[in-house]
Amino acid sequence: MSAQPTLGFIRKLAIAAGEIIVSERNKLDIQFKGGHELVTQADIAADRVIRESILAAFPQHHILSEELAPDAATDHRHLWVIDPIDGTVNYAHLHPQVAISIAYYHKGQARLAVVHNPFLQETFCAEQGAGAWLNQQPIHCSEQHELKRALVATGFPYQKDGVLPQLMSRLNTVLSHCADMRRLGSAALDICWVACGRLDAYYETVKPWDFAAAQLIAREAGASSGHIYPPPQDANPQLWGEDLLITAPALYEPLQALLQQADKYLLSSQQG
Ligand code: IPD
Ligand code: CA
Ligand code: CA
Repeated sequence: MSAQPTLGFIRKLAIAAGEIIVSERNKLDIQFKGGHELVTQADIAADRVIRESILAAFPQHHILSEELAPDAATDHRHLWVIDPIDGTVNYAHLHPQVAISIAYYHKGQARLAVVHNPFLQETFCAEQGAGAWLNQQPIHCSEQHELKRALVATGFPYQKDGVLPQLMSRLNTVLSHCADMRRLGSAALDICWVACGRLDAYYETVKPWDFAAAQLIAREAGASSGHIYPPPQDANPQLWGEDLLITAPALYEPLQALLQQADKYLLSSQQG
């Protein structure tokens, strides 16, 4: 195996993991992490297969992955960021909006990305500086520039204690100013759907493995990717999942301002 990973290698890996999760869904074993977060035997099996294949090809590389290495350090020259199943609740409820997400970072920058939905046979890929594709066809984000026409996706964390008022305030404000909203259940696919123009915008607080691959796909497809508030100075924005905001370019600033306004409104109503 060459010293450099390729998109072909990652695509094959994602497709092989996809075959595993499709067949494992016939014998679902559902558990709950931390009492509330659903996980299945397939999440762990897919994480293991992806990890073993990467380390067999690139023994010096490091891996951050949701099930087997969620606390791994990220400041490595060669880093892989993996969500073996994004959309586990969908997976366990037999919904099709489910993906395997694999990103390769070099010196802190996302370089290669694959988000593969084995149930819809859709594979999103991107290479930094070279473009983004869905099933090998180039993709581009929407040209929507009016908030009132925008279709916006978001998601909600498993643990909602303490964050519900903010989630509801943002939802209320966005729903009042935009065309409509979607909660599809896979952050990686939400972002890829912004990349290919099926959605106009997406915001949520997520973990690095939820968005690492999809944000590169979105950027390479022309979307704007950032945060509702700037990440801390010492954080790598490409691994900072708090208040993530990914949109068609013309919607970025208006939606950012709208979400900040929702937070201000909540704060002032809480202060009485
Ligand atoms: C979840 C999905 C969901 C998002 C949650 C994530 P998982 O990932 O991406 O859309 O709203 O915040 O945790 O648990 O299915 O890998
Ligand atoms: Ca996830
Ligand atoms: Ca997951």
